[in-house]
Amino acid sequence: MCGIVGYIGNEVSSPILLDALRRLEYRGYDSAGIAVISKEKNLQVRKIKGRLSNLELLVEQNPVEGSCGIGHTRWATHGEPSDLNSHPHTDVSQSIAVVHNGIIENHGQLRTWLEKHQVSFASQTDSEVIAHLIDFHYNGDLLLAVRESVARLEGSYAIAVVCKDQPDILVVARKDSPLVIGRAEGATLIASDVPPLLSHTREVQYLNDLEVAVLSKDSVHIYNLEGEELSRPCETIDWDMEAAEKCGYEHFMLKEICEQPKALGDTLRPKLDKQGKLVFPPDIESLIKGASHLLITGCGTAYHAAMVASYVIEQVASIPVEVVIASELRYKHHIRKEGEVCILISQSGETADTIAALRMLKNLGIPTFAITNVVGCTLSREADKVMYTNAGPEIAVASTKAFTTQLLSLFALATLLAKAEQLVLLEALQQLPSQAQRLLDRQEDIQRFAANQFNKTKVFFMGRLVDYAISLESALKLKEISYTHSEAFAAGELKHGPIALVDTSTLVVALCTQPSLFAKMDSNIKEVKARGATALVITFEQVHTFDETADMIFRIPQTHPLFSPILTVMVSQLYAYYCSVQKGNDPDKPRNLAKSVTVE
Ligand code: F6R
Repeated sequence: MCGIVGYIGNEVSSPILLDALRRLEYRGYDSAGIAVISKEKNLQVRKIKGRLSNLELLVEQNPVEGSCGIGHTRWATHGEPSDLNSHPHTDVSQSIAVVHNGIIENHGQLRTWLEKHQVSFASQTDSEVIAHLIDFHYNGDLLLAVRESVARLEGSYAIAVVCKDQPDILVVARKDSPLVIGRAEGATLIASDVPPLLSHTREVQYLNDLEVAVLSKDSVHIYNLEGEELSRPCETIDWDMEAAEKCGYEHFMLKEICEQPKALGDTLRPKLDKQGKLVFPPDIESLIKGASHLLITGCGTAYHAAMVASYVIEQVASIPVEVVIASELRYKHHIRKEGEVCILISQSGETADTIAALRMLKNLGIPTFAITNVVGCTLSREADKVMYTNAGPEIAVASTKAFTTQLLSLFALATLLAKAEQLVLLEALQQLPSQAQRLLDRQEDIQRFAANQFNKTKVFFMGRLVDYAISLESALKLKEISYTHSEAFAAGELKHGPIALVDTSTLVVALCTQPSLFAKMDSNIKEVKARGATALVITFEQVHTFDETADMIFRIPQTHPLFSPILTVMVSQLYAYYCSVQKGNDPDKPRNLAKSVTVE
C-alpha cells in the first residue's frame, strides 16, 4: 500500500503536495517524492528514502516551481526502500513522471520487452515500467499514451502522470487501487484517500476500475479504456478529517480487520501462476523442499503463526517442525539437526529477539528464511532468503492482517510441500479471501455478542491442534486491547488444572474446526457448562454437533480444517475489538504496548 497525490491549479503546488502526503503517511512511510512541472516546462523531481520530513528538508534546500505536480509516499513491495526506488519514476529522457500505488504483476515481462527496445532502468521497482511504457506510447497525446499503456498492465494500479510537454494537464488511471478526484475552486486534486482533499474541497468524484481521467485546473474528463467519455457526478464528503484517515472506520484496527480479504488476495496472487498453480522463486522452493527439519520462530502473534504452521506442515508434508519463541531460542542451547532450515516470522522485521535469534542461528550455520511484511527491514537484509506478506502497513498496535497473511504464506508453503491432497489444499487456499469477506459481512453478530459479554472478568479460549494455537492468539488479542483476563488452553488439559477456575463468571470460547475431535470438544464444553460457564462455539457452517450444548454458535465458512485458523481468528479479532470499544478503550493504542519491540 502506498499513497499518491496530485495537484493542478493556480497555487504553487509543492507545499500542497507535501501537506497532502503528510495526510497519507499512514499508507506508507519508507520513502517519499514529488514531481512538479514549471512554467518553463521543466520536470523537477525530488525524492528520498525515509520519512516525509526528509523530503520536506530536501524541497526546502532545493525548491521546485510550478502549479502542476504529483507526489508519493511509499510502502515498498518491489525493491528495498532507497532514493532510486522512491517515486515518482520517470522515462529515460525525464519528460514523463509517474506515481503508482499497487502491484504490477507482469512487470518482469514488460521490463524485458522495454529493455529490448533500448530502455535502461534506474530502479528495481515494478512501477518504473509504467513511466517507460507511457513514454513508448507517447506521441503528443498524454491521455492516449496512458490509455494504451494501462491496457498492457496486469495487477493493480492507481497512477498519476505528468508530462513536461503538456504542463496544463494531469492524467490518472486506476484498477483495484483507490483514487479520488477533488474539485476545488481553481484547482483539481487527486489522492488515494479523501483526507488530503478535505482542506481544499468536499466535492469529489470517484474513479472506477479501468477508467482514465484527464484533469486540468477547472475540468475533469473521465473515459473508459476504449476512449468513450463517461459522466460522473460529484459527491459531497461529510466525514471529518479523523474519520477520513481511517476511511470512515472508527479505528485503524477495525479498518485493518476489514482489509483482510484484500490483504489475503494480495499475498496469495504473486504465488500463483496463470493456471492457478503455486510458484515460488526457485531459490526459496529449493531451500524449503531441501529441508528435512524445520525450525520456526517469532514473538507474540508471529509465534502463534509459527505454531499453526507446525501442525499444518507436519500433517501435510510429514516434515518434523520445531517451534520455539524467539526470546527463548536466542538463549537456549539449540542442537543443530541435519538438513535443518529456520523460518523466522515477523511483521515489522525489527523485533529485537527475532533478530537476535536469527544471528544466533546464522552463527550455527543454519540456513535462515524470513517471512516479513516490511520490505528492506533488518530481518529481510540479514536472513539468507526472504518472502514478503503483502498486508500493507499495519498501524494498530494489535496485529490482525499481518497475522492472517503470515498464515496464508505458511499455508502456501505447506501446500507446496504437501505429499497428498495438493489440489484440494490449493483450491481451499484460493477461496480464503472471499470466505474472509463472507465472515466480515456477518460481523454484527459478533458485535452483539460482545455487547452482552464484554464485562466478563474471565475469558478462556480452548481448542485442539490448530484450534489450540488460535486459542492462544485469541486470548492474546483480548487481553491486549480489552484488558480482560483471558487464557488459552489445549482443551484436553482442562481437567489437569484450569477447570478449577471455571465458575458462573467465566466465558469459555470453544474453537471447534477439527471434525475428528468434535465429540471430545463437545464433552469439554459440557464440562465447563456444568460449572456455570457461558459457552460460545466457533465452528463451520454445516456443523450441528454443538447445537444443544453451546449458548451461542458463530459459524465460519467451510474450508479445509487445517486452514480454518485464518477464519476463526477473525472472529476473535472482532470479538476483542468490540469488547475494547464497549469498555471505552482505544484499541489502536493499548496501554503499555508498542507496535515494534526493538529492545529486549
Ligand atoms: C500482538 C502483536 C505482538 C507482535 C510481536 C512481534 O498483537 O502485535 O505480539 O506480534 O511483538 O512483532 P513482529 O511481528 O513485528 O516481530
